[in-house]
Amino acid sequence: MTDAPKKLHIKTYGCQMNVYDSERMAEAMGAQGYQLTDDPAEADMVLLNTCHIREKAAEKVYSDLGRLRPFKEAKPDLKIGVAGCVAQAEGAEIMRRMPLVDLVVGSQNYHRLPEMVAATERGEKPVDTEFPTEDRFELLPERPASNRPTAFLTVQEGCDKFCAFCVVPYTRGAEISRPVARIMAEAEKLVAKGVKEITLLGQNVNGYHGEGQGGAWGLGRLVRELARIEGLERIRYTTSHPNDMADDLIEAHGAEAKLMPYLHLPVQSGSDRILKLMNRHHTAEDYLRLIERIRAARPDIMLSSDFIAGFPGESDADHQASLDLIRAVGYGAAFSFKYSPRPGTPAANREGVASEVADARLQELQALITAQQHAAQEAMVGREVGVLFEKPGRLPGQWVGKSDYLQAVHVSAPAENLQGTLRKVRITASAPNSLAGELL
Ligand code: SAH
Ligand code: SF4
Ligand code: F3S
Repeated sequence: MTDAPKKLHIKTYGCQMNVYDSERMAEAMGAQGYQLTDDPAEADMVLLNTCHIREKAAEKVYSDLGRLRPFKEAKPDLKIGVAGCVAQAEGAEIMRRMPLVDLVVGSQNYHRLPEMVAATERGEKPVDTEFPTEDRFELLPERPASNRPTAFLTVQEGCDKFCAFCVVPYTRGAEISRPVARIMAEAEKLVAKGVKEITLLGQNVNGYHGEGQGGAWGLGRLVRELARIEGLERIRYTTSHPNDMADDLIEAHGAEAKLMPYLHLPVQSGSDRILKLMNRHHTAEDYLRLIERIRAARPDIMLSSDFIAGFPGESDADHQASLDLIRAVGYGAAFSFKYSPRPGTPAANREGVASEVADARLQELQALITAQQHAAQEAMVGREVGVLFEKPGRLPGQWVGKSDYLQAVHVSAPAENLQGTLRKVRITASAPNSLAGELL
C-alpha cells in the first residue's frame, strides 16, 4: 500500500458510555487503516457520536453538522457519519434534515461501521438502527495498547427503569449484561497492556446480572472477581440506580480495597411526590437510609448525584425538599440539570414549570452543590491519599492524576516519570476543581 493513511475525526457528546463507544469505533476503523486526527479539516471521515438526553445536547449535533458543510464543500469525498443516541432516536430523519450526512449508525451497531463506511465509498447512504441480538463488543477488534493507565469497560447496557423524563430506555434499549467471562477476558487484556484502573460502565451498571459460573452474577460479585486480577489496582463503576444497590455490592465497598471510595448515585429529586411522578420507585427517606448503609460499610466514601430542576409538577416545596436532601447527604460533587422535555417520554406532554422558575431553582441547586464541593475539596488538605498519575501537567515537571475520590491532583516531580504510577500523596492545597500535593 502506497496510499497515505486515511484520517478519522470523532467528536463525542454525552456520557462515558459514548466515550467508550468512540474508542471502540476508533479501534474498528483503525483496523481498516484509519488514523485519528483532532483536526476535522484534514479528516477523510468525521463521526459525531451523539447524545439525546436533553434537547440542547441533541440540537448541538445539528449546528455542528452545519459547521461541517464548508469542509465537505472543500473536499467532496469527505464522509460524515452520525452515531450514538441521536442516531438511534432519529435514524434516517437526520439525513432528511441534513443531506450532507453519509451514514447513520445506531448505538448498538458499531461493529458494522467498517462495512457501512465501505458502502459510503460506493455512494450509498447506509442507516442501521436495529437492535442486534449478538454482543457487539465481541465483534469488534481486540483493544490495542494505549499509554493511559485508566480504561472504561462497558459491562451493561440499556435500561428497563423508564424514569418518566428519560430517553435512555428508548435510545439504548432493554437492559443487557455481558457475560462474566467476556468481561474478565477484556479486563485481563487491558491490564496486560498496562491499565491499572478500570471503570465499569452501564446506564444502570449496578443492575448488572451477567451470566457467570453457577448462574447470574451481580455487580458486587463481578467487582470481587475483577479485584483478583493482579496488576489491576483500582475499580470504579458508574452509573447506579438507588434501587439496585444490592447488599453484596455495599459490602464490597467495605471489604474490597481496590473498589474506590467514590459513588455516583443519582437521586434526581428530594421530594417523594416528584420521585413518584418521575417513576423512580423510591422515596427520599429510602435514599437517605441507603446512604447510611453505604457509609457504614465505607465511612470515607465520597458521594455524587444528579438532580433535575423544574420537573413538571414541581412546586417550590418540592424544590426545597431537594435542597434539604442535598444538605442531609453532603455531596463531594453533583450535577444538576434543567428539565428538558424529550419526545416519546411519559413526562413530555405534562404541563411544565415556567422556564424562569426552573432556571432560578437550577441556580439554587448549583450554588448549594458548588459550596459542598468546595468544602469537600478543602477538607482534603493535610490528608494522605492514593493518586494514579495519568499524564504530565501544564507546568514543567508537573504530573496530574486522580485521587481515590476521583479528584484531579497536581504534584511537582521534575526528576521522576510518574506516568501510570499509583503513589501516596499528601494534599497541600485545594482549588475548586483540583488539588495540589506532594509525593510521600
Ligand atoms: N442512567 C443514569 C444516568 C442517565 S442520564 C441514571 O439513572 O442515573 C444522566 C442524567 O441526566 C440523569 O441522571 C438525569 O439527572 C439527567 N436527565 C435525564 N433526562 C433528563 C431530561 N429529560 N431533562 C433533564 N435532565 C435529564
Ligand atoms: Fe434514565 Fe437512569 Fe432512569 Fe434509566 S434509571 S430511565 S437511564 S435516569
Ligand atoms: Fe446521552 Fe445516550 Fe449517554 S442519550 S447520556 S449518550 S446513553
